Amino acid sequence: MTKSVAGELAGLQLPVERGCPFAPPAAYERLREQAPINKVRLTSGGEAWWVSGHEEARAVLADGRFSSDRRKDGFPLFTLDAATLQQLRSQPPLMLGMDGAEHSAARRPVIGEFTVKRLAALRPRIQDIVDRFVDDLLAADGRPVDLVRALSLPVPSLVICELLGVPYTDHDYFQSRTAVAVRRTSSPQDRRRALAELRAYIDDLITRKESEPGDDLLSRQIARQRQEGTLDHAGLVSLAFLLLTAGHETTANMISLGVVGLLSHPEQLALVKADPGRTPMAVEELLRYFTIVDGVTSRVATEDVQIGGASIRAGEGVIVSTLSADWDPAAFENPAELDVERGARHHLAFGFGPHQCLGQNLARMELQIVFDTLFRRIPTLRLAAPVEDLPFKTDAVIYGVDELPVTW
Ligand code: HEM
Repeated sequence: MTKSVAGELAGLQLPVERGCPFAPPAAYERLREQAPINKVRLTSGGEAWWVSGHEEARAVLADGRFSSDRRKDGFPLFTLDAATLQQLRSQPPLMLGMDGAEHSAARRPVIGEFTVKRLAALRPRIQDIVDRFVDDLLAADGRPVDLVRALSLPVPSLVICELLGVPYTDHDYFQSRTAVAVRRTSSPQDRRRALAELRAYIDDLITRKESEPGDDLLSRQIARQRQEGTLDHAGLVSLAFLLLTAGHETTANMISLGVVGLLSHPEQLALVKADPGRTPMAVEELLRYFTIVDGVTSRVATEDVQIGGASIRAGEGVIVSTLSADWDPAAFENPAELDVERGARHHLAFGFGPHQCLGQNLARMELQIVFDTLFRRIPTLRLAAPVEDLPFKTDAVIYGVDELPVTW
């Protein structure tokens, strides 16, 4: 049975500050206990369905009757103001916001770049990159060192730059603009400017690659489209925009939080150190535990749908809380426990269904290499500040920490 949420649960403002600071907000658990799908009122205005159950979240995300098109009426855009929405509507959509055949047409040509087999060829280079930043970390003059600047942010940024053929020397430019774009506390004007600047920067980059191709993913996409006679400049800009932003900000936050998670659970870290064969499973558990991209998996119903006991009408917004789903005790026993041996691969940190993260194999590989290398080369690594004092990104669409002082 579904209930309209009243009192303290109404006016849910997203993203919501987590508790403790790892656990989902207490309101999430109360919502899930009431029903796996509830109606919530959003502080930003209007109502939406809130999906907290793991089974129901997978059902919604795999169901073609729910649209990802942010331009459709009823789509729960809780982090955007009207003017930013207008800006978004005037631009060609990102793959993330496409449906059906249009989405497949955008995704299919790039899938081959992100297969496990294809990415295996990148492993030695990623290992080199991680080693280089760990060398610099060890050579740092003073301690504590901020791990975000020294490792978490540069590693995935350099990796995605090399893959896409983006000059790494521009990293300050795109990192700073992405950071502004994903913060709720950025003013709407700043967010719009950051998004426009990023898009203009990428537009220039694609224009240069169209005349001077290199050996990189974007140049290969241009060549492929030329061959098929379908060169679509705006579509390539959208693709590059999504890969560059999604490709560094998410993994960077996950590296930092993974380190915090392991360092604050020494018995779990000891298991990983004792047998690096456990690292892949530990990465899955850390992905589940933090589920850093929460609520971005929103949809709008295009038909009336009965799901998880809820009667969702066409045109109604649906927010799938992947964080809540990944702490659903029906899917993960004792979800509040970080257990690197649990086998958490069915988590929804990368989403589910047709939009499931395109870069997940790359992210997994980067996380595995970083954790293995960091704890092998600096076995005495420890936090240089109490966990409670770390500046967690409670206002960001992608959870993380702004700074991570470490020492050894
Ligand atoms: C730990 C790191 C990452 C996390 C937690 C993450 C999370 C997600 C999630 C939850 C979605 C699904 C959105 C939806 O269903 O609406 C998604 C989609 C996507 N991600 Fe990631 N991501 C990560 C890393 C990456 C990387 C490294 C790349 C690129 C190299 C990437 C590229 C994409 C793209 C292109 C999509 C859109 C796929 C589509 O719409 O078909 N992500 N990601």
